[in-house]
Amino acid sequence: MIFKSKSEEDTLKIGKEIAALLIGGDILSLVGNLGAGKTVLTRGISDSLGIKKGVKSPTFTLMNIYSTNNKQGIKFICHIDAYRLNKAQDLLNIGAQDYFSDPEVLTIIEWGDKAKDILPRRAKTITIETTSESDRKIKFGK
Ligand SMILES: Nc1ncnc2c1ncn2[C@@H]1O[C@H](COP(=O)(O)OP(=O)(O)OP(=O)(O)O)[C@@H](O)[C@H]1O
Ligand SMILES: [Mg+2]
Repeated sequence: MIFKSKSEEDTLKIGKEIAALLIGGDILSLVGNLGAGKTVLTRGISDSLGIKKGVKSPTFTLMNIYSTNNKQGIKFICHIDAYRLNKAQDLLNIGAQDYFSDPEVLTIIEWGDKAKDILPRRAKTITIETTSESDRKIKFGK
């Protein structure tokens, strides 16, 4: 699927559309440049799963866990930002694998390409391409 976004609001809506396709145990690897909209897309997904406060970029904490309103078998979102990761192994050291294998958790990893060595094979990649200051091409699946 390819989505065209012309604004932050579009990307939030696209996040909601993608959220409707997800179930517990899914792992999303978000790939795109600085400022592409990975966190905005994550916020769109998490809004639609009832996370009101809005996710923040976990850049300084590496990983944040949020409780959802328990739709689609997703009870928690595990939001990871791999930007500052020195080596993929560091994610295993903080126990990320327990979330990856939990059927009640949706895992979303920004800069997922930096963690690809340790991500389960079933992880789904979403790429966000910046084509102008406010235009984005968002690719999910085939
Ligand atoms: N079409 C668009 N979709 C999403 N964000 C957009 C769009 N056009 C402009 N923006 C702006 O781009 C920025 C995207 O920020 P965001 O934090 O989501 O990026 P990111 O990919 O998570 O960056 P980082 O790699 O630093 O984590 C915001 O300031 C947003 O307002
Ligand atoms: Mg971000």
